[in-house]
Amino acid sequence: MKIAVKAGQIQQEETELIVVNLFEGLKTPGGATGAVDKALGGLITDVIAGGDFAGKLNELAVLYTRGAIPAKRVVVVGLGREEEFDLDKVRDAAGTVAKRVRQLGVKSYSTIVHGGGKAGLPVEMASQAIAEGTILALYKFLAHKSAGEGETEVEQLTFVEFDESKLPQVETGARIGQATAESVCLARDLVNHPPNVATPTMLAETARQLAEEHGLRCQVLDEEQMAELGMGALLGVAQGSQEPARFIILEHNAEREDLDTIVLVGKGLTFDSGGLSIKSGKGMEKMKTDMAGGAVVLATLRAVSILDLPLHVVGLVPATENLPGGRAYKPGDVLHSLSGQTIEIISTDAEGRLILADALAYAQRYKPRAVVDLATLTGACVVALGHMVSGLMGTDAELVARLKRAGQTSAELAWELPLLKDYYRQIESPVADVKNSGGQPAGVVTAGAFLSKFAQGYPWAHLDIAGTTWIEKEKVYPLRSYLPTPGATGVGVRLLVQFLRDWVRDRDVDG
Ligand code: BES
Ligand code: MN
Ligand code: ZN
Repeated sequence: MKIAVKAGQIQQEETELIVVNLFEGLKTPGGATGAVDKALGGLITDVIAGGDFAGKLNELAVLYTRGAIPAKRVVVVGLGREEEFDLDKVRDAAGTVAKRVRQLGVKSYSTIVHGGGKAGLPVEMASQAIAEGTILALYKFLAHKSAGEGETEVEQLTFVEFDESKLPQVETGARIGQATAESVCLARDLVNHPPNVATPTMLAETARQLAEEHGLRCQVLDEEQMAELGMGALLGVAQGSQEPARFIILEHNAEREDLDTIVLVGKGLTFDSGGLSIKSGKGMEKMKTDMAGGAVVLATLRAVSILDLPLHVVGLVPATENLPGGRAYKPGDVLHSLSGQTIEIISTDAEGRLILADALAYAQRYKPRAVVDLATLTGACVVALGHMVSGLMGTDAELVARLKRAGQTSAELAWELPLLKDYYRQIESPVADVKNSGGQPAGVVTAGAFLSKFAQGYPWAHLDIAGTTWIEKEKVYPLRSYLPTPGATGVGVRLLVQFLRDWVRDRDVDG
């Protein structure tokens, strides 16, 4: 989709459809909406007075202009109550509009920047939110449908800004929003693909392609190379599968030693059957989503390189399947991890922490300023936090706070859980240095505690996205126009891009 920005008055736009907005409860529109209302001889005021439009969030009125202005249609979108208004409402409203525009068969339309005027949101962020809401709401996954849906796709959105001094902000926001949202769509695609397509080999191939397109550095380790390094935990999980495991390394600004290094680690478990500790068949097909952390890391590197952030960002994705079989690893086995620590296997279904353990140990070689891992790690996290908030833990309070803030700004919420010393007792092993399951109580925290033992020598934080990476209508409230129902959310990309951009901004402020 093309996004353009221009100076001008929306009521003078020569286009098929223009979009303006209204806060709930307003009787006479002001600003750009007021200008359009006036040009239409008070039509919008009439529709409000007639009780047909109240401005509730995501409410739409589609009006015909009958030659009063160049545009054939005006869409008025409700922004809800002004005192409850925020950036995510902009994202939501923009997504609602986009879906309706597509239904109408309109290919190109123009909009004002919702929230950028009297509502007082930072214009750049409002513009970013519109680009994100639009692109994310229009996302569809049809890769494995024999025939398309026959809908006309929206090809262009134009932002029309009256105040010329705001144009640079509108442009920057649109650019950031587009790079971010298209990367979210990449993560969604990878997660939505069936597990016979999205294999470790396919993830590695995707990384290689991203490297080629965007000038990233990519390195892929095969099982032999992992064995040489001593990645016994990752290889233990991979043992039962016929699909060769891969360890993917994707880097932005790899040559720049002057820049801060941030390592992002993503669980790339392309299908989690549970292994010999096999899961029940019910809902097992959802375990194709167990590589979402890895997908998000690859997609974030794409965004980071398009935005050309002045950071050295390293993405690490340990990728394998977890299957039962004659060669599969077993409960009772002891694995020798890259860190040197030995791990007693209690459940082969607690495999994510094993492949992450070796990736976290590998991260040490970069002497990073921070390491953040993302993983669909525990069912316990879903029980604790549900589907709209990711779990967050870490060994560095400042890093955890940064991630929580980035989650709030990007509306991909993450909430901290207590990684207290007392929990470590649950993962003590009588035969090895640590065991891979701490049982049911606080399962989300003991998984984090396990990871922390391998995240040594740098500030580290962990996001458990088990509940947030895939959503369904019944499970989410309030539903957002830009979230799939059902499907992969790509959660983590917006949060990480925000986190990294904030890192750059804060560093520049510190001098
Ligand atoms: N991939 C699962 C976690 C998961 C559950 C992700 C539900 C998405 C939705 C993970 O590998 C797993 O199986 N965890 C076990 C850990 C237990 C054996 C200690 C779990 O949560 O039951
Ligand atoms: Mn598992
Ligand atoms: Zn898993």
